[in-house]
Amino acid sequence: MPKKTKKPWTGRFSKQTNPLVEKFTESLSFDCRIALYDIAGSCVHAEMLAKIGLLKETEAKKIIKALHGIADDISADKAEFHTELEDIHMNIETELGNRIGKLAGKLHTGRSRNDQVALDERLYLRDVIKVLQNCLSDLQKSLVFLASENSQLVIPGFTHLQFAMPVLAAHHLLAYVEMFERDIERLQNQYKRVNVLPLGSAALAGSGFPLDRKFVAETLGFDKISRNSMDAVADRDFFIEFLSAAAIIGMHISRLSEDLILWASQPFGFIDIDDAYCTGSSLMPNKKNPDVLELARGKCARLYGNLTTMLTLTKGLPMTYNRDLQEDKEPVFDSADTLINTLTVIAKLIPTITFRDDKITLALADDFLLATDWADYLVKKGMPFREAHEIIGKIVGLAVRKNCGMTEIPLKELKKLSPLFDEDVLKISTPEASVEAKKSLGSTNPAFVKREINRWKRVLDKR
Ligand code: ARG
Repeated sequence: MPKKTKKPWTGRFSKQTNPLVEKFTESLSFDCRIALYDIAGSCVHAEMLAKIGLLKETEAKKIIKALHGIADDISADKAEFHTELEDIHMNIETELGNRIGKLAGKLHTGRSRNDQVALDERLYLRDVIKVLQNCLSDLQKSLVFLASENSQLVIPGFTHLQFAMPVLAAHHLLAYVEMFERDIERLQNQYKRVNVLPLGSAALAGSGFPLDRKFVAETLGFDKISRNSMDAVADRDFFIEFLSAAAIIGMHISRLSEDLILWASQPFGFIDIDDAYCTGSSLMPNKKNPDVLELARGKCARLYGNLTTMLTLTKGLPMTYNRDLQEDKEPVFDSADTLINTLTVIAKLIPTITFRDDKITLALADDFLLATDWADYLVKKGMPFREAHEIIGKIVGLAVRKNCGMTEIPLKELKKLSPLFDEDVLKISTPEASVEAKKSLGSTNPAFVKREINRWKRVLDKR
């Protein structure tokens, strides 16, 4: 017998839907991804309908069993869906009818696709948030590993992409661990607004049946129940917040990638990335390109784009559900997939990085990196900082003119600028002494950084 593919809403229509319209309005091609969430919601809805007497126990059991059968077929990639049935919700309902006949028609009691889709989206997003938090933690672990492997290594620190002061490579890497920690927190923070049950709002006004929403919420693990049926079906803030968090994560990945791309470039040469994580040029035999990192940097564009899509989609929408909202899913799927893929590959790439001592030593030979240490040296001998800044500035200017390093200027000359200069200035004049001299909490002082590495290890091990 051919399977039934009649739309559930044809009653008031006297004409067939134009095939162009079917093609234009369908969401099956992408909302098939939330099929299992839809079924999970339907099972609990059926259970609840039995609980309040709208279904017999035996009927609910039959519906749930058939729904599980459909879920099994979907998981085994054996399910057959039809575009003319518009979306995943109507496909599953129709397939249920194919399996158990008229009884399937009782499942939609007290429910609309408007609250159904909002439910599916929230169930999906709950899982995505957890997966992403794990991906972020894995990336943090990789960064902490690399930091710990190079815990004593000093590199030039930059502001304005100009040499600024020596820092520990580990300190630089841990800066990204902090960023990704804020991302995990941001996702956690929005989770409580995601974890609210919209089902039971029906189309917009609520249901004429005494639905046991508390039971549904508890069974599906929702912390709260939406308090306004109109808001529940119109709201997509949870997607906007997610896409905004995704955009920020993308920005962090992009900045990390840019740092590593620069470090891997010949003028810097601070790092080598494993061959397995680089690609070559079809023309230039010499090239080893950091394409993974470049793509990771580039992916940020679509994450920003998806956020803009969602903000624009919801702007000016009248209450309550409007079909525009069907456009909400693809940007979210895309941002989630993009981030999971990107975070996974970057987390694998990071531990393959090796630092190149030769090139780093060469860069650190630029002793202007120590200019601030010299200013602090004079301050420690009693000079006001502004005055010290001025004097060290003069010394740097002198060295630039002589085309030599600051530390190459004879003590005699230094003394002319300030009698406070002494032999001991050379003791503080190494990159190692510079980081060692940092005393403030959160600084690049090796003892602090070591403590931070250990703290992160403990925190991440517990996750
Ligand atoms: N496919 C729709 C969507 O994704 C489901 C909700 C449809 N509701 C409606 N009243 N047509 O938004």
